[in-house]
Amino acid sequence: MSTCAPASFVPHAEALARAERGLRELAAARRDRCYPAFHIASDGGWINDPNGLSYFGGRWHVFYQLHPFGPQWGTMHWGHVSSADLVTWRREPVALAPSLEVERAGVYSGSAVVGDYGRLRLFYTAHRWRNGRDEADGNQEVQCAACSTDGTRFEKLGVVVDNPDDLRDFRDPKVLRRDGRWYMVVGRRSPDGHGEVVLYASDDLDRWSWAGVLYRHPDPRVYMIECPDLFCLRAPDGDERWVLFLSAMRSQAPADGADGASKGEKGDEGAAAHDHVDTSGYLVGTWQPGEPFRPEGPACPLDRGGSLYAPQTMEAPDGRRLVVGWMRPDGALDVQDDNWCGQLSVPRELTLGDDGALRSAPARELAALRGPVRELGPLALGAEEALTLTDDARTAEVALSAPLGDSTSAALALEAHVAEDGSCARVVVSPALRRVTLVRRSADGTDAVCGVAPLPPDAGEVTLRVLVDRDSVEVFVDGGREAISAYSLPVNGPRAVCLVAESDAAEVRTLAICELRSIGLDGRA
Ligand code: FRU
Repeated sequence: MSTCAPASFVPHAEALARAERGLRELAAARRDRCYPAFHIASDGGWINDPNGLSYFGGRWHVFYQLHPFGPQWGTMHWGHVSSADLVTWRREPVALAPSLEVERAGVYSGSAVVGDYGRLRLFYTAHRWRNGRDEADGNQEVQCAACSTDGTRFEKLGVVVDNPDDLRDFRDPKVLRRDGRWYMVVGRRSPDGHGEVVLYASDDLDRWSWAGVLYRHPDPRVYMIECPDLFCLRAPDGDERWVLFLSAMRSQAPADGADGASKGEKGDEGAAAHDHVDTSGYLVGTWQPGEPFRPEGPACPLDRGGSLYAPQTMEAPDGRRLVVGWMRPDGALDVQDDNWCGQLSVPRELTLGDDGALRSAPARELAALRGPVRELGPLALGAEEALTLTDDARTAEVALSAPLGDSTSAALALEAHVAEDGSCARVVVSPALRRVTLVRRSADGTDAVCGVAPLPPDAGEVTLRVLVDRDSVEVFVDGGREAISAYSLPVNGPRAVCLVAESDAAEVRTLAICELRSIGLDGRA
């Protein structure tokens, strides 16, 4: 398959200019009551998946699915921000807008690679509706490319992988390099209706050939795998392991809902036909070119919060593997009237632990966001005592360690976004239950569990690192052994950070809190 001359329905420059106008209008009318300070979000409109993570021309690039005409999912574009240091970001012009016939209904998710004679090459899904109108008769999707010499203006190259089987879902190309060849993983609904990840190979990034089914989901209810990502990590024993990310669309929730799945709120085409749940997870296993991926264990969540979806990784110039996910609206982030919706997780570093599971911790560069650090530990709290760490945190990072003690020790709760109406986000350490739970408490006292992370049965201590932005909380347990993230309830007024001993006396060994400064995207143009 090779690139072919793309037929367009509008000049790309015109479509981009229209998108910029749409964004400017939304941004001008944006309400900022919970607009994030250190998470990537659009200045207006809706965003979902991170796309095209790359390091090019001395800058980090993050693109994302963007609807520039409203704060709800719609015809997708690629928004773009870039950074010299992975800490402070600047807005770049909208990178891709639908302009080709094959992408009339949207330029969907994809990836970026450098290596194209020094150019940045994007791969993305061109999406259109079969009936030309809506999702009722399904979609038609093919994989396209675009390239850039300066990292901001992109020339479209047209279709690189067609859809000869006329599949209903076939999207989200992620390109990697292995043994001198390029490989592209793509998610699809197979001709017999199963979620699969398939592989294409290329020597020149232009001509791609079919290289087989990489992975077929064992659960027959999984009818589509979105945003696959395949990459290699070195395990502590020095061996290479392959990791496969899957964002699986599955019809019907399991009766007990036990896997923390949450309903997608995006109006994607599967939703109409299925009562579906979408969850992201990863598999660790082995792979080599010419063979399928062989998992060595079951799929695990990358984040227990259930809102992290469509994560994408990139290799940093120093060899680290970084991941960014979409924090999908999970029932709390009701900002549709605010003219923006959705953010990406902070960049996280991925490593493999000696138990073979992934660890994910905030990228080390994020330390540069810290303001003065207040050390408050060690300290002891009496039964049901609450200590206010700060009366009103716009943002905060809290790091603490606490003994887990015996099975009778009291639960300790770190509360963020504690509003005057009593609502808050609670990170509860339960030594007896051996778990950390992230809970959203409403003003009426009702608790909604956002995610539960198990603690090892024999651990004598737990460490927490909690990143509190204006609309969300990201929790990292034991240096990234577990992550739980969720949005908070949007409220006006001051919001405190407190530490609470639940039923009995509790102690913390170390406790530090600081503010995190803005990454530079929350101002107004
Ligand atoms: C995942 C996803 C992708 C698709 C994009 C469209 O959230 O559905 O499969 O490319 O979002 O916005």
